Amino acid sequence: RTAYLNGQFAPLDTLQVSVMDRGFLFGDGVYEVIPVYSRQPFRLTEHLKRLESSLAAISLPSPYTQAHWAELIKTVVAAQDFDDQSIYLQITRGVSWPRNHVMPAEVMPTVLIYADTLIPPPAALIEAGVTAVSASDIRWLRCNIKATSLLANVLLRQMAVDAGVAETVLFRDGLLIEGASSNIFVVSQGEILAPPPSHLMLTGITYDLILELARQHGMPHRVCEITEQQVRDADEIWLTSSSKEVQAVIRLDDRVVGQGKPGPVFREMHCHYQQFKR
Ligand code: PDD
Repeated sequence: RTAYLNGQFAPLDTLQVSVMDRGFLFGDGVYEVIPVYSRQPFRLTEHLKRLESSLAAISLPSPYTQAHWAELIKTVVAAQDFDDQSIYLQITRGVSWPRNHVMPAEVMPTVLIYADTLIPPPAALIEAGVTAVSASDIRWLRCNIKATSLLANVLLRQMAVDAGVAETVLFRDGLLIEGASSNIFVVSQGEILAPPPSHLMLTGITYDLILELARQHGMPHRVCEITEQQVRDADEIWLTSSSKEVQAVIRLDDRVVGQGKPGPVFREMHCHYQQFKR
């Protein structure tokens, strides 16, 4: 499995980074996960734009131009022997000695790009829907940065696994934020509601696409603050991410959502999403 590290293409299991890498010591880095369908990166421009804004937010100059990023990704994609891929791209603030929180003056960022197989959600899961639990959001106040420091997300995501469900839905101060590793939408009286992008959530590339598809197909939708009560009373709840696409949540904690099966607005959106992917 050929991957890219700091200017070299080599088998992933041979790549090594220093234990003094700030990504390892501080979680001082940013990342992207980019789906690739039939060897075509999906929404690449949007992912690279978000990467730029994550880098800017942590004051780490981008080591490459957009065109060069695209070229590197293309090379990694071409080197795999499977067509549907999930590209993982990470940039850290590199190696520095001695360990010091303060950003070093000279930075040689560590850049890693590798491909994993991408398995889209099976039809049975789309038909049946998934379940979720809720939790209060224990993360920091810069969740708009796609940072590799993900300890709170790890704890929150594990809560879902321990509860035997698919995702943890996060609330802060009585408002819906997002999932531990996804964005959340609700449908209320036929209208799709999306929480407003802010420093408290990561604006997903899939989140943006869902709103774009709603607009394109004339589906009623609104970006607005959503209360916890609105979520609990919602007719439909969806979760979205690059790897999960769009899935219906049919139970939240111990309450059934709507009719307890994926709703009509979800089915329409899922259909538009699949069409757009082709
Ligand atoms: N996670 N919010 C959070 C906290 C996320 O971690 C993700 C994605 C999303 C959805 O973003 P997008 O639609 O761009 O995938 C929202 C990725 C897939 C991950 O960490 O693996």
